[in-house]
Amino acid sequence: MNPLALPPALPPDTLLLLHYLLTAALLLSLPFLGIVIAGSAASLVLNFLGREDRDGRSLRLSREWIEAVTIDRWVLLLLGLLPYPAIVYACQRILGGPDSLPAIAWLAPFGALLAGCVLLSLYRSAIRRTTELPRFPFQVGTAGLLAMVSAAFMLFLLLGTLVNPAKLPLVRSNLVFLLSWNSLVGFLQFLALSFGLAGGIALRFLGRQRAEGGEPDPDYEARVRTAGTSFGLTGVLAIPALVVLNLITLPAPGLSTEVFAIAATVPILALAVFALLYLLPGKGEGRPGDRVSALFVLMFVAVILCNQAAADNALQGLSAPPGPLAAEAVSREGKAAIPEGADAAAVEKGKKVFDTVCSVCHRFDSRLVGPPLNEVVPKYKGDPGKLKAFIRNPGKVNPAFPAMPKPPVNEEEIDSVVRYLLATVKNGK
Ligand code: HEC
Repeated sequence: MNPLALPPALPPDTLLLLHYLLTAALLLSLPFLGIVIAGSAASLVLNFLGREDRDGRSLRLSREWIEAVTIDRWVLLLLGLLPYPAIVYACQRILGGPDSLPAIAWLAPFGALLAGCVLLSLYRSAIRRTTELPRFPFQVGTAGLLAMVSAAFMLFLLLGTLVNPAKLPLVRSNLVFLLSWNSLVGFLQFLALSFGLAGGIALRFLGRQRAEGGEPDPDYEARVRTAGTSFGLTGVLAIPALVVLNLITLPAPGLSTEVFAIAATVPILALAVFALLYLLPGKGEGRPGDRVSALFVLMFVAVILCNQAAADNALQGLSAPPGPLAAEAVSREGKAAIPEGADAAAVEKGKKVFDTVCSVCHRFDSRLVGPPLNEVVPKYKGDPGKLKAFIRNPGKVNPAFPAMPKPPVNEEEIDSVVRYLLATVKNGK
């Protein structure tokens, strides 16, 4: 297959359906993976400390926390693994079929996910049987946690291609190009929300014993309160900055008012959690666990919807203009409208060449891999031959950019793409 091929334009209905499927699978999968990661990290740390200090309350919180976040061995396995195939299916279709990325890119996260779920389920059953863990299950738990974290990280790298599909050809040539600042920020957002949510879940233990008719243990409650509040606060303090970083690192074609509007709800929700935790009475009956958890779930929803909206914009940016709409815009701005007759056919063909080959690295008004064409093409206005020569045999021009590789186009395609470029760039006559 052509290594430079971009995702094909799917019919809008199919695309919409795939986006719904993906959103649903992510909403099911990410918050769950998140609380499992954060909850087992908390449990492992408490277990370690509890053993060092011979402290039964830490051990008890360690056990209750992992039990609460994994719910049940089967739920862990099913909820941890089942949404993944749906995510892969939707991503692959959106990105252009089974060849969109090498199979290993999809299989590696699944392997890590499977290993993580199995190991954590072993740790969970071991900790339920005894309060004081021998060394072995502790190491199994740590390995499971690491596997889950790397699975989640890989998942975020894959999701990153959705907001920047123009990078797909690069990624296909070398998987290293999956790494991007935006995916890293997305992953950190995920961790911050997960820790906050796990904190909310721990706060739900407050007063549980009294509700069940048992004798409350104030020391244990105080420990739960401290642990839950510090997890919640960590999430709440980190998330607004990460949301801003996410918007900054999103590729320009992904941005829209919708994206900004959804992103803006996150800091507001964070403020609400902060108020809840801050007003939390030091002692007494306050049980903010449910509300804190619900607010973190809402933040999860907002963050996922925000990135889905950005992915939508990015994909539309690839396939939509410059069609008839763009031509209209060109004539509205008083420039030469697309010429008629044979010329028009050549320009039309040039647009196709541009969309399939050049748009991987070029936009007209913004910098991608290469410079914005509105800035570099006008200097060739009087000399199409020179522009053709450059495309035939690109040399190094601007030290601020890497050299442009020789594009896979023939003489006729060069001719038509040059016509298209000269007819479309701004600053023209
Ligand atoms: C793999 C990425 C890539 C592809 C594909 C690509 N370009 Fe480029 N292009 C670049 C880079 C990088 C530069 C900057 C090179 C430099 O300044 O040395 C560039 C520069 C240019 C320039 C400016 C030259 C100048 O004089 O400053 C033009 C015009 C251009 N490309 C047109 C095209 C056309 C037309 C196509 C499609 C047939 C295309 N490019 C495909 C990466 C690409």
